[in-house]
Parts: sequence; structure tokens; C-alpha cells
Amino acid sequence: MAGLHEKLHTRPVTFAVLSAVVILIGTIVTMFYPMLTPQMHPKLENLKPYTPLQLAGRDIYQREGCNNCHTQTVRPLKTEVMRYGEYSKAGEFAYDRPFLWGSKRTGPDLARIGGKYPDAWHSMHFEDPRAFFAESNMPSYGFLNKRKLDAGDVVSHMKALGFPYTSDEINALDGKTEMDAIVAYMQVIGIAAAKKPAIAEAARAEDKNPLSGKPEAVAEGKDLYAANCAVCHGSDGEGGIGPDLTDNVWLYKEGDMGDGALHNIIANGTQPGREIEGGKAKGGMPPFGAQMDKNKIWALIAYIRSIHGK
Ligand code: HEC
Ligand code: HEC
Repeated sequence: MAGLHEKLHTRPVTFAVLSAVVILIGTIVTMFYPMLTPQMHPKLENLKPYTPLQLAGRDIYQREGCNNCHTQTVRPLKTEVMRYGEYSKAGEFAYDRPFLWGSKRTGPDLARIGGKYPDAWHSMHFEDPRAFFAESNMPSYGFLNKRKLDAGDVVSHMKALGFPYTSDEINALDGKTEMDAIVAYMQVIGIAAAKKPAIAEAARAEDKNPLSGKPEAVAEGKDLYAANCAVCHGSDGEGGIGPDLTDNVWLYKEGDMGDGALHNIIANGTQPGREIEGGKAKGGMPPFGAQMDKNKIWALIAYIRSIHGK
């Protein structure tokens, strides 16, 4: 008797049908089945669906084409991690519909923008990017201040995406502008991804400033201050987006703060609720430890001490 294989290749139709079935089974086993398993849909533990205000902001981000200039994904390369922070994880994007990873970086990556700056920084920067960076080619978005959100639109979008919301959250949209929404969206991007522990303690609390009072250090600190700090703390330390640096109140607590603690604040930035020498941070001070060495920070502190009481 002739073997099955001999008969099969003389019957093209049967052969085609059987091979299609075999390929289909292979496809189901290797592609469709894994797609339905939970491991293929990772979600970070503390990741939450967008709130109505955040989702409205995300829509504005898409409408304005922000992702033509900004990416939202940090690649696992040393240089990127040093610049932007923890690299992106699959589990961060479970509620992103669609993904806004982008592919062009005219401006910096925004995957770790949440919590990097205070709200006021963002609204001022959106209004006038060149007030912060003279050569920025980012357009001004001041008009967002004048456009009110439409709660009805937001509700339908929440429903379409199946995100949970409360009527309080919808009522809270009343009177909110598109600027409020885009700022709220900026502040939520990337915050569910585990933040890298702060950079190693830059200085011990009891450390004294080795450059204290040295005129060259004060002069160097003054230049560093003008380039990095004045946008938030005012050109003479009088305060603005960030607190006054000439008074004797540090992290909202009256009384002097040691050099070591100041070094720590400047190197590591602040995070909401973090306690430093009895003061309680609200967050919003960015870390400078990655771009300034120890002595630059000591020079800044020498300068800050020199403007005390002025
Ligand atoms: C034409 C390109 C371009 C467009 C469009 C653009 N940006 Fe930018 N963006 C930049 C550049 C360049 C910078 C860096 C200089 C600066 O901060 O102004 C920047 C900086 C930023 C920063 C600060 C990032 C950081 O880590 O300091 C944020 C936040 C931001 N953009 C958000 C947005 C949002 C939201 C939109 C859309 C509403 C947008 N950008 C549209 C080019 C652009
Ligand atoms: C993006 C805005 C921003 C920039 C830029 C910035 N800061 Fe701050 N800074 C803040 C905010 C906001 C706080 C309050 C932090 C908190 O409550 O957690 C703060 C707090 C501080 C404090 C504690 C002061 C106090 O009175 O409580 C010091 C010191 C400080 N910043 C120094 C600096 C120095 C030095 C630089 C430049 C290298 C700098 N900051 C740049 C926003 C900024």
C-alpha cells in the first residue's frame, strides 16, 4: 500500500487544506494564546487610569501634536537613564490608548516629567517657553488659558475608554481651562514607574561648607544661580515659583538649616512629604546632583548664604 505522504502530494486541495490547518494551529499556539494571557498585559501595581482632568489634558497633547517634538519613552541606555531617569517599562502604558511614545526629540523626552517641576512652572513655561530657555523653539500655548473644558466631551471619552470616574470629578471640571488639564496631564506622566532612589546622600547633615565665605566661591555660585535657579527662586533669591532663599525659613520651618541639609536639597531635589531637618517638603525642587559636582553645589550654598537677609 502506498504511504500517506505519497497519496497526499498527488492531491493538492487536501494538501493545501491540511497545511492551512497545521499553520493555523501553530499560529494560535504561538501567537493568539499568549496574547490572551495576563503576562502579555503587564500593569504596574500603582498605575491608575487617567482622571477626567488628566484625560482631557492627554487629548490636548494629541490635538496640539506635542508628540511631533517630544517622545514619552526612555530607552534602557545609560546615557538616557542618566538624563531622564528610570527607563520605560511595558507595565506603565496599560491605560495609554493610543500610546504616545513618539519618535522625534526636538524637545526632551517627557516620560519622567511628572513631579519634576511645580504646576506653576509648567503653566508659565507653556505660556512663554522663551522666558525660561531663550533659544527654545517650542511654540507658546498661552491660548490654552482662555479655552474652557467641555465636561460633556470628557465624559464621553471616559466612557469610550471604560475609565472609572465620579460625578465629583466631572463637577470639578467646571471652570477648568485647557491649561489646567495639560498641566495635570504633565504631572501624572511616568509617576507610577518606580523612581530611582535619590542619588547617594550628597553630604552628611553635619557637613560644613568647605567654601563658606570664599569670594571666588560666592562669585561662582552667583553665576550658577543665575543660570539654574533664578527662573524659580527669583533673580535675587526673593522667591517666585520656589520659596524665598534670603529669609530664615527653610522648607516652611523658621530657623537656620545646616549646610549639609541644603546640599542634600540641591543635589537630590525634594519629594512631597520628605522631611529634612524638621522641615516638610511639598515637592517641586528638581535635583541638580547629576549635572553639578559637590563643589559647585557648595559654591551655590556660599552664594545663598551671602544673600541672606538681603
Ligand atoms: C516645535 C517642537 C515642540 C513642540 C510642538 C512642543 N515642544 Fe515642548 N519642548 C520643545 C523644546 C525644544 C523644549 C526644550 C526647551 C524648553 O523647555 O522650552 C521643550 C520643552 C518642554 C517641556 C520641559 C521638559 C523638561 O524636562 O524640562 C515640557 C513639559 C514640554 N516641552 C511639553 C510640551 C507639550 C505638552 C507640548 C504640546 C502642547 C509641547 N511641549 C510642544 C519643543 C516642542
Ligand atoms: C523648577 C523650579 C525650581 C528650580 C529650577 C530650583 N528650585 Fe529650589 N525649590 C523649588 C521649590 C518648588 C522648592 C520648595 C520645595 C518643597 O517644598 O519641597 C524649592 C526649595 C529650595 C530650597 C529650600 C529653600 C526653602 O526656603 O525652603 C533651596 C535651598 C533651593 N530650592 C535651592 C535651589 C537652588 C540652589 C537651585 C538652583 C541650582 C534651585 N533651587 C532651583 C523650585 C525650584
